Amino acid sequence: MTAFAIRGETFAFVADPFAGPPHEAYRHDSDGAVVIENGGIREMGTAADVLARNPGIVVDHYPGHLVLAGFVDCHIHYPQTRVIASYGAQLIDWLNTYTFPAELAFADPGHAAAAAEVFFAEVLRNGTTTVSSYCTVHPQSVDAFFAAASARNLRVAGGKVLMDRNAPAGLTDTPQSAYDDTKALIARWHGKGRNVYAVSPRFAPTSSPEQLEAAGAVWREHPGTLMQTHLNENKDEIAWVRQLFPDAPDYFGVYERFGLTGPGANFGHAIHLTERERVALRESGSGISHCPTSNTFIGSGLFDLAGMREIPVGLATDIGGGSSFSMLATMKAAYEVAQLRGHSLHPVRAFYLASLGSARVLRMDHQIGNLARGFEADVIVLDPRAKPLLAERVGQARSIEDVLFALMILGDDRAVKAVYAAGNRLV
Ligand code: GUN
Ligand code: ZN
Repeated sequence: MTAFAIRGETFAFVADPFAGPPHEAYRHDSDGAVVIENGGIREMGTAADVLARNPGIVVDHYPGHLVLAGFVDCHIHYPQTRVIASYGAQLIDWLNTYTFPAELAFADPGHAAAAAEVFFAEVLRNGTTTVSSYCTVHPQSVDAFFAAASARNLRVAGGKVLMDRNAPAGLTDTPQSAYDDTKALIARWHGKGRNVYAVSPRFAPTSSPEQLEAAGAVWREHPGTLMQTHLNENKDEIAWVRQLFPDAPDYFGVYERFGLTGPGANFGHAIHLTERERVALRESGSGISHCPTSNTFIGSGLFDLAGMREIPVGLATDIGGGSSFSMLATMKAAYEVAQLRGHSLHPVRAFYLASLGSARVLRMDHQIGNLARGFEADVIVLDPRAKPLLAERVGQARSIEDVLFALMILGDDRAVKAVYAAGNRLV
């Protein structure tokens, strides 16, 4: 692929905005450019410098638009696209009433393939270039997911859900088939192109101890794969885990016992953590997916972002528990949840959570989530005047930080002007 440049208002992180003052954590060029070659970022800087160094280069020019790394959604369920906006239930009822019936349909490979197409179209039009998705218990649902991602050359993570109890017959496997299927799917998909496998025991209540043991074994046997599951989302769920695993110190302790914690382990929700769990999570090097629209929509609780110091946190939609595919809408919800806990989430920190923070949870923060030389060229272009109200509000903005804040509070898919993945323009 010959080199080309994307020119606009570039925004990139130069530090972790949670580790110091947010205003020192980024570089913003009001007329910047990124040079893309062979799917990667070759160089970036002010447009004047970049264009002088690359005479005659083809330029995609977006005056007045923000150019930044694609969003990274570190916890989503692609089979639940149609479950979004399901009325009137909290977690366990919501799973039984809406989610499990929807997942049953993924036994049909044709249904799974069609669903994966709809899913990636929606994800991309929202400016999300990487997801870590749960599939269903059916291996064919994983094939459909990675096939659709590969066709678009996206960096994604995903895996077959493991469930051998407390679920309908058509959605259960066994400890042995969970192990064997996961192993076969890792061989088929992990490291092929930009695909990363995530071993995916759904959550402690739907796996027997023997199955969690098998999940820990297969994860341990395949270094470089990820592990994703749910943790401390809902009070009734936590009480159920205490009944099912009476010997464990707490919910996180169940996963510890089976070797399902550590770097590359990605715990969804983690709202109701005990102090022991918080310390153990941090010491293990595990990450957390913060899913604010899901936590308010299903009525689960308010995540304590300010209490997560040193624990890697990413931002996620958790579709279909979440109520929007948009990471801008998800940042807004994260802001509101933080407000309800007495803190204000700075826009630079919110954008970090939605990109490099999520990439860090997925151990991809050397590849995606930022605009930097050597990174993969997943780039989005946002229009800060995409709707009349946004234009009105941004007209008053006195800083890039204020523009970002207006975008995360008022923006949605309409603000996404262009999306490039591995340097290919997909939207
Ligand atoms: N806990 C176990 N499975 C699920 C799921 O599919 N969605 C959510 N939000 N929580 C879960
Ligand atoms: Zn989830």
